[in-house]
Amino acid sequence: MSGSKSVTRSSSRPPENGASPRGRYWRPLALSLASGAVFAVLFYLWGRELFPRAAGRWGGTFPFVGAVALTLAVALFLSEWFGFAGREVRKARLAARDFLFLCSLALLLFFAAKAVIDLLAEIPALGRGVPTRVYAYLIPLPAFAMVVRVLINSETSILFTVAASVLSAAAASGSWPVLLFLLLSGTAGAGRARRVPDRYRMLMVGVQTAPVCALAAVALEFSFHGGGGVMWAGIFGAVNGLLSGPIALAVMPVAESAFGYASDIRLMELSGAGHPLLSRLMLETPGTFHHSVMVGTLAEAGALAIGANPVLCRVAALYHDIGKLGKAQYFSENQAGAANVHDAMSPGLSSAVILSHVKEGVRIAGEFRLGDRITEIIAQHHGTSLLYCFLDKARPMIQDRKASEEMFRYPGPKPKTREAAIIMLSDATEAAVRSLDHPTPQEVDVTVTGIVNRIYLDGQLNECDLTLRDLHAVGRAISQVLAAVAHGRVDYPDAGKGAVG
Ligand SMILES: [Fe+2]
Ligand SMILES: [Fe+2]
Repeated sequence: MSGSKSVTRSSSRPPENGASPRGRYWRPLALSLASGAVFAVLFYLWGRELFPRAAGRWGGTFPFVGAVALTLAVALFLSEWFGFAGREVRKARLAARDFLFLCSLALLLFFAAKAVIDLLAEIPALGRGVPTRVYAYLIPLPAFAMVVRVLINSETSILFTVAASVLSAAAASGSWPVLLFLLLSGTAGAGRARRVPDRYRMLMVGVQTAPVCALAAVALEFSFHGGGGVMWAGIFGAVNGLLSGPIALAVMPVAESAFGYASDIRLMELSGAGHPLLSRLMLETPGTFHHSVMVGTLAEAGALAIGANPVLCRVAALYHDIGKLGKAQYFSENQAGAANVHDAMSPGLSSAVILSHVKEGVRIAGEFRLGDRITEIIAQHHGTSLLYCFLDKARPMIQDRKASEEMFRYPGPKPKTREAAIIMLSDATEAAVRSLDHPTPQEVDVTVTGIVNRIYLDGQLNECDLTLRDLHAVGRAISQVLAAVAHGRVDYPDAGKGAVG
């Protein structure tokens, strides 16, 4: 385990975990190739304007050669910058689709910067009283930096802001004030987009960013060019900030659909009881639905205790056991009052049915496009833990070499993020406390501590950024919530140690 500061979202992304819905890679790849072609054409068209001296020297061949050279140079810059960050910055390990997304966004901003300046220069009413240089204060970098923070994380949004500032400043004549303004406004936008659970909050982030952008534009304009364009610089800076919310809200659904991201806004939409999967869970597996709601409450409390993402924890918990749909009777939480079907099954067959709910959950999540953040948590919520109840039953068979311990182990992977780890802890503790008969708060606390220690000692938390302090804080938060609700429990006499979360 390693130390970690409070961050918006743990970003150690599992490179490959079998959780990917089909099309996760080919879609962004096709998109990036298409974007590359579009950018090359745009470079071709604007090549003369961007590099007039080179155009003069190369004559008629410049547009083509210049477009290829510029595309290569920009691609090289972005791949070196994000490649280095992805390898070396611990919280910014970038998957292939993150890399493609960031490059596409940076290039899009490059041309947006060029378009903003060119289009405004065409408006005669503006041209008379406004110096052309102040148009650069309208480059929508704050909006893009906000999108990156909301969809990936804070570290990546800063890396993106630096790369996109350099590129966009180059597109806007490459002057120092523009570069400084873009660095400052992008950081201001990203810095205020910490928790964005709904559209209103996103608009408010823009409103809060506006005064910073206006002040920065006024200060930079005054210090580099005197008082001539100060008023317009301030107005354009403020407008840039105010528009960043609506622009981010327009860009996010496209990014979510094309690259498979799930913002907190999307997660909040998924948490509504009207979602077909939650409706099915409620009607077909009411025990599992109740368990999932409880796990969500525990996980949210755990996330709040350590500064992890409570929205992700609560919503992912609601969906973590969707793989049980269609097999309700095999899981203890749905067996209240009925015979235990596992009594008539071999331990091997029982464990195969129980273990399959993880893989099936990942499949259903892909089918319903729940997004990678939820899908990864579904895949990781049991890690590589053992199904102890059936393992104990199968001990004689294992001794006779008719079965192996591996048959009773979940396939993994282990939790890669703090949120996935919190859900694993909430899931296991909820299942264990559910099996207690009217427990006292002390009994709940002892049970939760025992489960947390078992998961830690089993090495299930070895691949996520949870400190020992975090682990204790999460355990304490879960214990408090469970103790408060435990007195109203229904008895589950057969669940015990082997209750399956
Ligand atoms: Fe569960
Ligand atoms: Fe589960």
